[in-house]
Amino acid sequence: MAANYSEKEIFILGIESSCDDTSAAVIRNETILSNVVAGQKVHEAYGGVVPELASRAHQQNIIPVVDLALKQAGITAGLISAVAFTRGPGLLGSLLVGTSFAKGFALAKGIPLVEVNHLQAHVLALFIREPENEHPVPDFPFLCLLVSGGNSQIVLVRDHLDMEIIGQTIDDAAGEAFDKCAKVMGMPYPGGPFIDRLAREGNPDRFIFTKPRIKGLDYSFSGLKTNFLYFLRDQLKGNSGFIEENKADLSASLQKTIIEILMGKLIRATRLMNIGNVAVAGGVSANSGLRDAMRKEAHKRKWNLFIPKFEYTMDNAAMIALAGYYKFRKGDFTGQDAVPFARTQL
Ligand code: KG4
Repeated sequence: MAANYSEKEIFILGIESSCDDTSAAVIRNETILSNVVAGQKVHEAYGGVVPELASRAHQQNIIPVVDLALKQAGITAGLISAVAFTRGPGLLGSLLVGTSFAKGFALAKGIPLVEVNHLQAHVLALFIREPENEHPVPDFPFLCLLVSGGNSQIVLVRDHLDMEIIGQTIDDAAGEAFDKCAKVMGMPYPGGPFIDRLAREGNPDRFIFTKPRIKGLDYSFSGLKTNFLYFLRDQLKGNSGFIEENKADLSASLQKTIIEILMGKLIRATRLMNIGNVAVAGGVSANSGLRDAMRKEAHKRKWNLFIPKFEYTMDNAAMIALAGYYKFRKGDFTGQDAVPFARTQL
């Protein structure tokens, strides 16, 4: 039975399929009504996302996930004002599934289609409201450290849809550094959460790893990854049990290095821009060490700090729906001829 909502309210159905999570969400204005995420276990055995398998799993998941999102929101498809979908960046085959579904849904219901940039949506996750749970949202302008499996950026956010990248990785992303180093230690994909867990039991000062010397506000993580790999290779020559015996200390020391790299440039950016509103977003913002470091610096430097709720740090359709809501209000709609893109800037 559909709930009785006012006609002035805007309902957006969000669709996210950029990588290996199929997600659908419904929001009423800025408030989330449902957010369903179907992960894909199939990739674990391969140590990374296999694009072809991801597309197939999206194709299987998309209808049941949307169905459940509508049911959990307590509304019928006829009440949806617009459908927002991730157009990119991401895996093309995966994006095609969400894009095609969104186009079909919009056409069938005679409602607007709204394209969303996945990275912009990660930042907007900070603005998701829950029905019973009010939380402070950042004032503009603010600086957001956007760290995920594919991106590491410092973003100057002037408004919901006005963002500028002022620093970014020139090679690997922070999430990639976590995942690739975890793989070398024999951990499943994605390894970031495993390193996070192990790091809590380890000594972060036991091993010293390379930090990049990159000018300005840009990041680099490929040197650290190579340093970590060569260090393990050398140690394993003398002791084949080195990784197993030192996993917690290795994790803690690696995590500490990644966090110091991330925080160093972020602190520099706040000084350069003279901005005290600071946020973090993206999958790596789930990292407990990074969250602690952000809180510590915020206290020391008197930042107003904003950290998204854990479930909105990962890929999810709630953030896509919310980005779609802001675009919908501006009348920023997309045509049926839209095609996904693999790479893009904000
Ligand atoms: O944002 P996201 O879900 O997907 C992308 O759009 O990339 O981020 C996934 C990344 C993976 O690299 C994963 O290892 C990392 O976020 N991640 C973490 C943690 N949770 C997820 N990295 C470190 N610590 C965590 N707790």
